[in-house]
Amino acid sequence: MTKHTVEPGTVQETLLIPLYGRAVENRKAEAILRDPRAEEIVAAIDYDFSRFDGLPSLTGSVLRTTLFDRWVRDFLAAHPSGTVVELGAGLNTRHERLGSTQARWFDLDLPDVVALRRQFFTDTARRTTLAASVTDPSWLATVEEDADGPYFFCAEAVLPFLQGPEVRRILRLLAERFPGSLLALDTAGPEIVDAQTEHDALSKVEARMQWSCGNPAELATWLPGTKVHASHTLSSLPDGMYAQLPATYQDMIGRLAEQRLPQVEGYRLSLLRLP
Ligand SMILES: C[S@@+](CC[C@H](N)C(=O)[O-])C[C@H]1O[C@@H](n2cnc3c(N)ncnc32)[C@H](O)[C@@H]1O
Repeated sequence: MTKHTVEPGTVQETLLIPLYGRAVENRKAEAILRDPRAEEIVAAIDYDFSRFDGLPSLTGSVLRTTLFDRWVRDFLAAHPSGTVVELGAGLNTRHERLGSTQARWFDLDLPDVVALRRQFFTDTARRTTLAASVTDPSWLATVEEDADGPYFFCAEAVLPFLQGPEVRRILRLLAERFPGSLLALDTAGPEIVDAQTEHDALSKVEARMQWSCGNPAELATWLPGTKVHASHTLSSLPDGMYAQLPATYQDMIGRLAEQRLPQVEGYRLSLLRLP
């Protein structure tokens, strides 16, 4: 069987890190999440995933995904026919994990990633793949025309790869077009962005983070009226999520909380309500 390829040296290559994280997690007896699709996809891609073996960031990416899953699950419990938009979806399998049939769902990524995504995922009447840069405003019009609110935008591990003014513009466009919607995003502080060539996983690829943000509350100064509903580090996850983790992960998080490592404390996962 001919395997699929991902162009090394591009920002698209970064999608392989969380994909592999979920695949590795799926093989564990005691796991944070299950993702058999990720294992199938990894097996079908021609790439030396072993370079990521054993890296702490793999577990970090799985914890991040699990928190974003929780936020989306809560949103869909309150709004079963609401709309979820994955920005920079990569080969994310959130739709598969959350199993929503009523929700309207969009997975957006750059055209070459979407071409790869289409090898593994099929659009339906309620699930649409969008080939566009998140910075291109045309996709907002498509979502607005095709789907009713309320809206949940999920930007998992994508905005730090953009320039600060681009992130600012995207937030403004989202607030203008979809006022009151929820946005989940991650932010890396300046000390993390400055030291990224030593980052365990990013040092294995060429793509680099461009935008740093030391405090997600800063985003409310960009867009007055923005509310930070929740903001966590990987060492301070919500109690309900922590309680459901296998004991080995609880121990690991306990040790992280004691160590207060700058690369952990400066990386935040936040849920915003746009004005
Ligand atoms: C680290 S991956 C995260 C993928 C996915 N969110 C996940 O958690 O599995 C970053 C993703 O952002 C996408 N990306 C980067 N710049 C983008 C842009 N300007 N527009 C849309 N997607 C972008 C990349 O192609 C890649 O799929």
